[in-house]
Amino acid sequence: MIKVAFLGAGRMAEAMVRGMIAQQACRPEEIGCMSGSGKTARTLAEATGIHHVPDMRELVTEAATSILAFKPHQLQSMPPSLADWTAGKCIISVLAGIPIHRLFHQFPMAENIIRAMPNTPSAISQGMTGYSWLKAPELSAERIIEQVLVPLGPAIEVEERLIDAVTGISGSGVAFVFEFVRGLRNAGVIQGIPEDKAHTFAIQTLLGAAMLLKQTGQSPEDLIAQVVSKGGTTEAGLTYLNSEGFEELIHGAVAAATHRSQEISGHFQ
Ligand SMILES: NC(=O)c1ccc[n+]([C@@H]2O[C@H](COP(=O)([O-])OP(=O)(O)OC[C@H]3O[C@@H](n4cnc5c(N)ncnc54)[C@H](OP(=O)(O)O)[C@@H]3O)[C@@H](O)[C@H]2O)c1
Repeated sequence: MIKVAFLGAGRMAEAMVRGMIAQQACRPEEIGCMSGSGKTARTLAEATGIHHVPDMRELVTEAATSILAFKPHQLQSMPPSLADWTAGKCIISVLAGIPIHRLFHQFPMAENIIRAMPNTPSAISQGMTGYSWLKAPELSAERIIEQVLVPLGPAIEVEERLIDAVTGISGSGVAFVFEFVRGLRNAGVIQGIPEDKAHTFAIQTLLGAAMLLKQTGQSPEDLIAQVVSKGGTTEAGLTYLNSEGFEELIHGAVAAATHRSQEISGHFQ
């Protein structure tokens, strides 16, 4: 029996499905998906063992929870009957920039609506999700968070006005971190390290730094101080980064992504 329905079966749906299955929050046969052309849904079903149910009505009426995982602009082209099919059920939307009140307008009979912003490391249960509710959750809705979001990695409830910033810092932010690793790898190549080795150095530097932060609970400032010595190599590199406005660049990237999410929200008011 299908418990969780994915409407949209692209990159984010795949990451969520893989995280849910890996953490045994759902068995593959308890998850169903459909997509616009059917192409990505077929591929996802074949890759993960979940059901491909091309008929949206059949999929949504069987499941207790529906996850909106198509592109934000596609919300407008959803069939009006979707509101009836989701009546009394929980909806989770991962659509960037779509406010809860807009979702409520389209799905007024849903039992509850969760606006969530996960990221792609959800596929290996190392994601980061921020979420908000339409209304204070019943126990059954809290169980849905346990079933769908918690298996993806930490899930933190935030006020809805902060979801755009969550999009900037973790939804899109994961790509900013990949961009940093790309730069570190390429910098190693410029310094003469073969690309495959530079790739490993860059990834392990990121992983080691992230795990040290997490496992020691120390701040980035404290851990930086443990690497820097006066007149040393790290100080030379950090002085360069700071003189070029490294932190301001990161602030700017998060602000740009946050602003874009707000712009999309404005479009869907
Ligand atoms: N990617 C991320 O890192 C990320 C992070 C957080 C949130 N999100 C959100 O997740 C959502 C999906 O993003 P994505 O990156 O996964 O996009 P994507 O890979 O392009 O996938 C979009 C999916 O929507 C399907 N689709 C198109 N028309 C549809 C319709 N009428 N009904 C149902 N499904 C339809 C597509 O199916 P076909 O191609 O088979 O037609 C495809 O499976 C977006 O709203 C985005 O804001 C993404």
